[in-house]
Amino acid sequence: MKASTLVTGGLGFIGSHLVDRLLSENKRVIVIDDCSTGSPENLAHHRGNPDLEIAIAKVSDCQRLAEILSRVESIYHLAAVVGVDLVMKSGIQTIQNNLHETDVILQAASQAHVPLLFASTSEVYGKSQKEAFSEEDDLLIGPPHLSRWSYACSKLMDEFLVLSYAQEKQLPVRIVRLFNTVGPRQTGKYGMVLPRFIQAARAGKPIRIFGDGTQTRCFCFVKDTVEALYRLQSTPGALSQVFNVGSTEEVTINELARTVIQLLDSKSTIEFLPYDQAYTAGFQDMLRRKPVVDKLERATGFKPSTSLKEIILKTAAAF
Ligand SMILES: NC(=O)c1ccc[n+]([C@@H]2O[C@H](COP(=O)([O-])OP(=O)(O)OC[C@H]3O[C@@H](n4cnc5c(N)ncnc54)[C@H](O)[C@@H]3O)[C@@H](O)[C@H]2O)c1
Repeated sequence: MKASTLVTGGLGFIGSHLVDRLLSENKRVIVIDDCSTGSPENLAHHRGNPDLEIAIAKVSDCQRLAEILSRVESIYHLAAVVGVDLVMKSGIQTIQNNLHETDVILQAASQAHVPLLFASTSEVYGKSQKEAFSEEDDLLIGPPHLSRWSYACSKLMDEFLVLSYAQEKQLPVRIVRLFNTVGPRQTGKYGMVLPRFIQAARAGKPIRIFGDGTQTRCFCFVKDTVEALYRLQSTPGALSQVFNVGSTEEVTINELARTVIQLLDSKSTIEFLPYDQAYTAGFQDMLRRKPVVDKLERATGFKPSTSLKEIILKTAAAF
């Protein structure tokens, strides 16, 4: 039987698109997911496919982990607590999940000596005001009484842990720092901006912008993100390296709202909600969050290029 690829968090937004990509390459795929934010519906179109095996479990509770690891040739570790809303409401869950689960999968991977790609986040760049972030930059994270930073810190500790397993246990690892990723199957439930805007525009309800909307972001289409992950996993030069993965098309949140309204021909108005009402007093946001992706392009020959307009139309069509 051919070897499998393990995707933790494979029932989630990015994970399910990665599973699509792997299956399209004729790979066998095993998913471990506890359905905390993901759903089997995200892979319902593969029901009955003998190349897909799904274990509904937390990574750390998965009784079959060692057996699964004995059958896989590579691991994408995407399982995590994600989304500003969820992170701010569930600090303990965020920190425990993101640290403990990653340690469990790293231990298992190193025992079986299976290469692992870890999904980190652009949040690790924190509040730094640089125009665009490079992988070697210093990181500027906010204080612990502001709970949003628990996500960045937990993912940053994960990065240290992943690189320590590489150094001390000779585990083949790769780290990707994902910038805002969007597309079909992303839910607005946990505060993700584009699905929230599209849902409001579709319903003709006011689009709510948190803050004054001058903050900028770069939105990467999920299929571009997945292409980058897929290529990096088979790039020998990517071993023990950190890569930014994201779009470089920068847009203010105000422009994003106006573009969604225009493209969906919506009658929605735009409302502004101060951060301390949207989240909690003292909430800190980043003014810009743009990646430098030269390293990704040099290593894989690929850089995300789907335009924002195309992304909005494709995402809205899938709702
Ligand atoms: N979406 C983005 O813009 C973005 C940006 C930066 C980083 N990331 C990272 O990408 C990865 C995937 O994010 P996503 O946007 O697809 O989120 P998601 O919430 O859709 O996916 C996470 C998946 O992991 C599962 N999960 C969580 N904890 C688990 C555990 N302990 N055991 C098993 N399964 C578990 C959830 O049920 C879900 O299916 C995450 O690691 C996230 O930190 C995403």
